[in-house]
Parts: sequence; C-alpha cells; structure tokens
Amino acid sequence: MTAPPRRHATIAGTGVALPDRVVPNSFFEGLVETSDQWIVERTGIRERRFAAEGQATSHLASAAGRRALEAAGLAPEQVDLLIVATLTPDRPLPSAAVMVQAALGLSCPAFDVNAACAGFSYATAVGTSMIESGGAENALVIGAEVLSRVLNLTDRTTCVLFGDGAGAAVLIPSDEPGVLASALHADGTKADLLTIPAGGTERPLSPERIAAHEGTIHMESGREVFRRAVTDMTSTCRDLLDKAGLSPDDVDLLIPHQANARIVASVGQRLGIPPERSVLDMEEVGNTSAASIPIALDRAWRAGRIHPGDVVLLASFGAGLTWGATLVRWTAPAPRA
Ligand code: ACO
Repeated sequence: MTAPPRRHATIAGTGVALPDRVVPNSFFEGLVETSDQWIVERTGIRERRFAAEGQATSHLASAAGRRALEAAGLAPEQVDLLIVATLTPDRPLPSAAVMVQAALGLSCPAFDVNAACAGFSYATAVGTSMIESGGAENALVIGAEVLSRVLNLTDRTTCVLFGDGAGAAVLIPSDEPGVLASALHADGTKADLLTIPAGGTERPLSPERIAAHEGTIHMESGREVFRRAVTDMTSTCRDLLDKAGLSPDDVDLLIPHQANARIVASVGQRLGIPPERSVLDMEEVGNTSAASIPIALDRAWRAGRIHPGDVVLLASFGAGLTWGATLVRWTAPAPRA
C-alpha cells in the first residue's frame, strides 16, 4: 500500500495596512534628547506610522487581512482558521483575533499568538501545521500591532524604534510545499531584557505604576538585544537551510525582522547573502514587531522582488526571548489585488 500524498501549505497572497499618520524622527526631538541624524544612522528609521485615536490593532489587522484575502482570491466565508500574532491586542480579553473575525465576517476558529516580534513565525508555523495535518483547509495569518500605545515617550532608547501596522498572509493547501520548513525557539530566562513590566497579573496597573511608565516597553540593554538578534537569527537560518538541504546561495530573498538596519545587514553578512538579496524595509515604518515580516514580505512581493519558484527566507527575533525562521518556496503569481 502506498501512503497518501502528503499535503503541504503555500502562501497564496499577502496584504498590508498602515495608519495614515506619519511620524518623522523630528517628532521625538521635541520629547527626548535625540536627533534625526542619530536615529537614521543607528537604526535606519526615518519615520513610522502611529494609529489614530480609537484605531485599534484589530482595525489594522482586519484591513491587512481583507487585502490578503483579495490577493489570494479567497472569500471571507471560505476562511477556515484565523491566527493573529500581536503583543498589543485591543483588550486583554477577548482576543484581537475574534474582533478581526467579526469585522471580516468569518465563521472560523480564531485566536491570538503572543511571541512578540517573532509572532508571525509562530503563527505561520501553526497555520502551516494545521493545513498539513488536515485540521484546517486554509489559514489567514496576521501580524498586527499598535505599539504607539505602549511607548514611553520619555525614554529615548525605546520610543524612537517602534511603529504601528499590520501585515497578513493567506495559507492554502498545495501538492508541492510552499512552506518548506519552519523553526521556532524561545529563551524565557531573558524575559526581563525586553518587557512591559506592568499591566498583567504579576503587576496590575495602578496610578503609581502608570506614572513610573511600567505599562510601557522597557529595554534593559539595546546592545544585548542587538547581539542576540544577530546571532540567533543567523543560527536559526543556517539550521533551517541545512534541514531543507539548501544553502544561503539558494536563497533568492532574505527577509529578517525589521528592527534595525544594522541587524539586517549583519544577519545577511554572516549568512553570506548580499544586500541586493535581502529586504531592508524599516525606513518608513520602523519596528512594527509581529507585523514587520508580513509588511516587508507584502511590500517586496508587490514591488516585483518575489517571483514564483523563488526561495524566500523569513527570520524573526523578539522579546521573550523568542525567535524563528520560515523557509518558503514562493508559488503565488504577481499580485492581482
Ligand atoms: N538618541 C540619541 N542617543 C541615544 C538614543 C537616541 N534615540 N538611544 C540611545 N542613545 C544613546 C545611549 O543612551 C548611549 O549613550 P551613552 O553612551 O551616553 O550611555 C549611546 O546612545 C549609545 O547607546 P547604545 O545602546 O550603545 O547604542 P546602539 O548603537 O547599540 O544603538 C539601539 C541603540 C538602536 C537601541 C540598538 O542597540 C538596537 O537597535 N538594538 C536592538 C534593540 C531593538 O531593536 N529592540 C526592539 C525590540 S526587539 C527586536 O525587535 C529585535
């Protein structure tokens, strides 16, 4: 007896949504001791988008999800699974995913994943596994953040780094693998390195804690985050390529998490992937955490940088620490929507 052919998953389309409000580096010059020159030189960021008052994570996630569905040619009623990766859900309860489910008129299971900036890697791995196992017919996977609500605008070491936005991808079943392999990692011993200390069950928000900025992003050491981001993304990419029997030479496009231009450059350099085969896309959007990879992916696809047959390597790193990578053979034609 021959085993039934294995079912695979592939990306059928992507989409992005960004808030309208553009916040240039000069905005921070009036708040903290910094300069446009320092921010551009040390991070590669010139501007970012901030959500409008009342604009929540699920609003951006829904818009990105709608565009990805249009690009994939999938109707909302056909969606079988919805996963939203976010560290900034609309509310602690219920999930951002159920808000998106209602907004898009879906009737499928829906849940959030919080793996910080690595969230899209985690969500994509879960969506892929569900399709491969037959647990879902397809999956809408979204990374979305409104980080401007959790910034400490008196801390120059963090407030200049982040932006708001959402990116989405539609996974569908395929005979040939689109998603070739995934890797996920975590190191909870470094939880304090990058954290929002209060607002959860350990340290509920109080007026004192709000005044002490404990409900906002706190980074113990930017240098240590930088070091770990470079070493961990590089090693997980190497391991994943080995697992798939490929080498960095086979990668047509590397899309690392867009935290800092120097991190992206170092990862590419260590892997031996030249800048022209690597995506640098934080200049206009900043670090959008879980949304960073799907935003960069969508913008690269729509700019004509990704073609059917291309090998695309997505690498993520974030608070937790969490990190991961996804190796994809691109199958979608040029975007139709
Ligand atoms: N403007 C001006 N000066 C600044 C600013 C700023 N916005 N931020 C920090 N500095 C100062 C520091 O206070 C320090 O001054 P000091 O020497 O008087 O103490 C000096 O610049 C050098 O600080 P470093 O931290 O060594 O600067 P570095 O070159 O490492 O750049 C940065 C800092 C941009 C945070 C970098 O380390 C980085 O990007 N790290 C990764 C962190 C990150 O991306 N975190 C986001 C979430 S995690 C993720 O997405 C991977």
